[in-house]
Amino acid sequence: MADDRVTAGLDLVVLGGGGHAGLPLSLAFADAGLRVGIYDIHQPTLDAIAAGRMPFLEGGAEEMLARVLPTGRLELSAEPDMLGRADAVIVVIGTPVDEFLGPSTRVFERAVDQIAPHIRHGALVVLRSTVYPGTTAYVAQELERRGRRVDVAFCPERIAEGHALEELHTLPEVIGADAPGAGDRAEALFRHLASKTIRTSTKEAELAKLFTNTWRYMKFAIANQFFAIADQAGVDYTNVLRAVKEDYPRAADLPGPGFAAGPCLFKDTMQLAAFTSDHFPMGQAAMQINEGMPAYIVSALERRHGTLRGKTVGILGMAFKAESDDIRASLSFKLRKLLGWAGATVLATDPHVTDERLVPLDRVLAESDILVVGAPHRAYRSLDLAGREVVDIWNATGAGVRL
Ligand SMILES: NC(=O)c1ccc[n+]([C@@H]2O[C@H](COP(=O)([O-])OP(=O)(O)OC[C@H]3O[C@@H](n4cnc5c(N)ncnc54)[C@H](O)[C@@H]3O)[C@@H](O)[C@H]2O)c1
Repeated sequence: MADDRVTAGLDLVVLGGGGHAGLPLSLAFADAGLRVGIYDIHQPTLDAIAAGRMPFLEGGAEEMLARVLPTGRLELSAEPDMLGRADAVIVVIGTPVDEFLGPSTRVFERAVDQIAPHIRHGALVVLRSTVYPGTTAYVAQELERRGRRVDVAFCPERIAEGHALEELHTLPEVIGADAPGAGDRAEALFRHLASKTIRTSTKEAELAKLFTNTWRYMKFAIANQFFAIADQAGVDYTNVLRAVKEDYPRAADLPGPGFAAGPCLFKDTMQLAAFTSDHFPMGQAAMQINEGMPAYIVSALERRHGTLRGKTVGILGMAFKAESDDIRASLSFKLRKLLGWAGATVLATDPHVTDERLVPLDRVLAESDILVVGAPHRAYRSLDLAGREVVDIWNATGAGVRL
């Protein structure tokens, strides 16, 4: 007897559906009543999902997974056959920059190879990864060249990690399409989640997504540069920031200083730099400032102590941002490396990250001469650090911005 679950149609398949962007999206669609296939090549991730365990921290996701698994609306596979059973395929694979800080174009060449033999005629293909401008048109053209008659759209993922399940419903959905039919179909699909949609061409949507991330990255860069200027002027940046922002709405969106890191902002700014004829000097400057923050901290410590040889430095927080277990492109690891090169013994800890190179918080507190906050986890706000040498450019410990 045929297995109904294997032969029945699916409303959509999410290619890369086990990832940080793909999994919350898959869960949200399944929770909204759609039959969703997760197609992901990483089998351990699929095993975790099937067992009801989220492979990473994401607010509310474990509860949603527990809710949708018994409905049978979520199917998992590491094989591409599943693509042939779906009306729509959403592609959310990683889009790193290569060793030249340009887009890794092979990612979508491979994706086309992967999709083309299996996808149904008439299906909708939505790219949701953040892509180099022109990628959607390339994918559409390559699928057509291989004889696949499909609609193609670009609908960028704009959530902030950790807040996906809320933001998939509250953020407007950008629908980039170059043919009205493709746009209408993509809009109908995402109306299951978002109440507002914004229609553009594919290239407009591709640029809109890169501009969104680059804008955020540049705001962090100016925040970090202001901090460095105030630090070099010998004034208390907490006071400066208060004077700039307090009851002054036009400066309300100036962030505090911190590590601007993670898998998206840096690489998307570099994708934009690769796209522009002048290599985007403002983006390059933002990259230098943000990527330079660990070295700025190490230099300040070296100036204060003469040398870091013989010192033990503890890093509190190795994830790339607060309340996350994601260490991808975390600047805490760059800090750890630079401190090691400067001769310090480095101990690192994080309550959310499982990594054999890390040690418990108690040991870091007991053995370190200097403490540096690497990620502003809530847990550090309640620490009693009176009398300790603390570097906390985030003001995570609540005692002001300290270097
Ligand atoms: N992480 C975020 O919060 C976020 C937010 C907005 C946009 N984005 C964008 O979304 C995209 C994905 O990022 P991510 O953080 O989810 O990456 P990720 O590495 O967490 O997820 C990618 C998933 O795709 C799977 N995969 C990779 N190649 C595959 C293939 N050929 N076939 C099937 N599965 C494959 C991987 O196993 C992984 O589970 C990127 O373009 C990123 O810039 C991410």
